[in-house]
Amino acid sequence: MVIYSLTLIQALRTAGHIVMLTGAGVSKESGIPTFREAQTGLWAQYDPTELATPQAFRRNPQLVWEWYQWRRSLVANADPNPGHFAIAQMETLIPAFTLITQNVDGLHQRAGSIQVIELHGSIQRTKCFEEETIVETWIEDGQIPPHCPHCGGLLRPDVVWFGENLPQEAIEAAYIAAETADVFFSVGTSGLVEPAASFPHIAHSRGALLVEVNPTETPLTVLADFVLTGASGEILPPLIEQTWPQKGAAR
Ligand code: OAD
Repeated sequence: MVIYSLTLIQALRTAGHIVMLTGAGVSKESGIPTFREAQTGLWAQYDPTELATPQAFRRNPQLVWEWYQWRRSLVANADPNPGHFAIAQMETLIPAFTLITQNVDGLHQRAGSIQVIELHGSIQRTKCFEEETIVETWIEDGQIPPHCPHCGGLLRPDVVWFGENLPQEAIEAAYIAAETADVFFSVGTSGLVEPAASFPHIAHSRGALLVEVNPTETPLTVLADFVLTGASGEILPPLIEQTWPQKGAAR
């Protein structure tokens, strides 16, 4: 088993506020493909960065809706993995813990995380493309995508697409968290998409200890104080066990 640095363990034990930014890599061990890796099966021919745009939806709403239906079914058939559970457990062990996720799959919440800042929305929610209001129910009459029961506009997932603004409240909460972190974790994210990519830099410039968990290098690796190389489901549970041996039994 990996033995983690005592300096890191001490920093975690004494931290008042730990902030964790997660990306698609955290859900990889649950069988959800990360955003930038090749899609599989029917969807192998499409580039996700070209499907997740308002332009793509305007051009071919059926294709984009069906792609999200496929992603929803992947998530519905997946379970949170030990990385998700370890993160949920950390929330209970630290005076203040803020989880900021770029993931739209809801697996953090299913693992038990309570306070989750969802920067990129959620595929579990649906909204009207025209009015942007959340829609809970609609009539399934075979139309794909279905239509908004209020205005008749097309329905779409409540996720942030390329070129769209992030939810203001989520961004503000994430900035405040980054500015006040004692330790900032960047877990399973390639760190390529703004504004999430800036949060570790903000935290670091305010004196936070920076920890990266990722099997591969990212643009953040050179800046990180601790680089924990590997899958989050393998790195985080023993880190918690070693930091809080009385309380931190891995699930
Ligand atoms: P990416 O697909 O860009 O990156 C996934 C990261 O996870 C990579 O750095 C992998 O090395 C790492 N990884 C793979 N397996 C892992 C594992 N088992 N444990 C930990 N890390 C692992 O996904 P994101 O960084 O989340 O935004 O992408 C950010 C955003 O870009 C997404 O939310 C999406 C996309 O554009 C929007 O759709 C707005």
